[in-house]
Amino acid sequence: MDRILIRGGARLSGEIRASGSKNSTLALMAAALLADGEVILRNVPRLRDVETMLEILRALGASADWAEGDEQSLRIDPAALNQPEAPYDLVRKMRASFMVLGPLLARFGSARVSEPGGCAIGVRPVDQHLKGLAALGAKIQLDHGYVEATAAELRGGRVAFDLTTVNGTQNVMMAATLARGETLIENAAREPEVVELAAVLGAMGAEIEGAGGDRVVIRGVESLSGVEHTVTGDRIEAGTLLAAGLVTGGDVRVTGVKPVFMESTLEKFREAGADIETDEGTARIRMAGPLQPLRAVTAPFPGFPTDMQAQLMAVLTLAEGSSVVVEQVFENRFMHVPELQRLGADISVSGRSAHIRGVPRLMGAPVMATDLRASAGLIVAALAAEGDTVVNRVYHIDRGYERIEAKLRALGAEIEREK
Ligand code: UD1
Repeated sequence: MDRILIRGGARLSGEIRASGSKNSTLALMAAALLADGEVILRNVPRLRDVETMLEILRALGASADWAEGDEQSLRIDPAALNQPEAPYDLVRKMRASFMVLGPLLARFGSARVSEPGGCAIGVRPVDQHLKGLAALGAKIQLDHGYVEATAAELRGGRVAFDLTTVNGTQNVMMAATLARGETLIENAAREPEVVELAAVLGAMGAEIEGAGGDRVVIRGVESLSGVEHTVTGDRIEAGTLLAAGLVTGGDVRVTGVKPVFMESTLEKFREAGADIETDEGTARIRMAGPLQPLRAVTAPFPGFPTDMQAQLMAVLTLAEGSSVVVEQVFENRFMHVPELQRLGADISVSGRSAHIRGVPRLMGAPVMATDLRASAGLIVAALAAEGDTVVNRVYHIDRGYERIEAKLRALGAEIEREK
């Protein structure tokens, strides 16, 4: 199993390009199932989660692969879809695969998708996805760990989510594009990835209004066409690279992102003492002087993203004073805390709050990645620690970060992957 070795202390500087957004890509790959024709996605990150989604699309009978001669593009053609069942072995690897349910149901009138089950960061049920599809007329049954959904014909309806769910909003939005009549989603997630999905569905011929707000209206159409789309830069990867610049007292510019989607993250970096400059497609962070403590509470967009929580906490371990980080989105997303403590961080957790008392220095140590963003947090901390850190179980990182060690090395980090 691969490990990542980091010798901390190098000040990061330079310019690096963010890859395409993992979360947007996964939703768009599911949306491709709705097309009558080929969907081409460009600027796709080469990640394990994308490979998993490709496997799922193929298991459903679609043709889906990397485009020849273009390392970052996917070609997906659902013409040969013949098997509306997403198997446990694939779905359990990645919860996002549950997003094929809506499109399959809309296309076939029936679908069978394994329940994703629990995962390291909490229970993460799919009740809201199912509630939404039921409001469109689907009959839902649970059968031996599988969700079976059927609908002779989906019809528009009113879906009022009890909480904001990103993939739930996307799942229902996709199903509604081919339903008869109008669907209203209330309490919709407002994440940029929802907006991007709505835009691409629109380019395929769907009629969607209001994406980016909490009320989205979808008027069903007969069919959707193929489309070509370039995926937006990954705001979480970009935020992670900026956090690495911040914690090492560096000067890092990330290109290929839209800083307007990163405001709450950039605001926290400013509070921590960084100087931030942005233009339409880049964000630059410069840090001189001591790190300032702060309070951060995760929340759905436009709030501070839960996917940046571990990386921010890693930065705050070295602040001059005490910080508080409250995790409101997921119930068990502090697995990085014991690992950060191994590096010398002073953190105590009570319920959904973590209290971080800044220490003057962290010391390298062997640590273990427990989930995707937790591992990103460990890497950020290790870059600032004295001496060597070995991060084990890096397959978690490979789910969501493209060549992270190469990118950080390009910025001056001493980091290597050991096979
Ligand atoms: C997406 C992102 C993930 C991010 C999360 C929150 C993808 C592939 N993943 O995940 O990176 O961390 O948004 O920004 O886009 N919930 C329910 N019932 C449901 C659905 C969700 O109770 O049916 C709860 C979850 O357990 C969680 C909260 O709602 O506590 C938010 O989850 P949700 O927004 O659905 O996260 P995902 O869409 O799975």
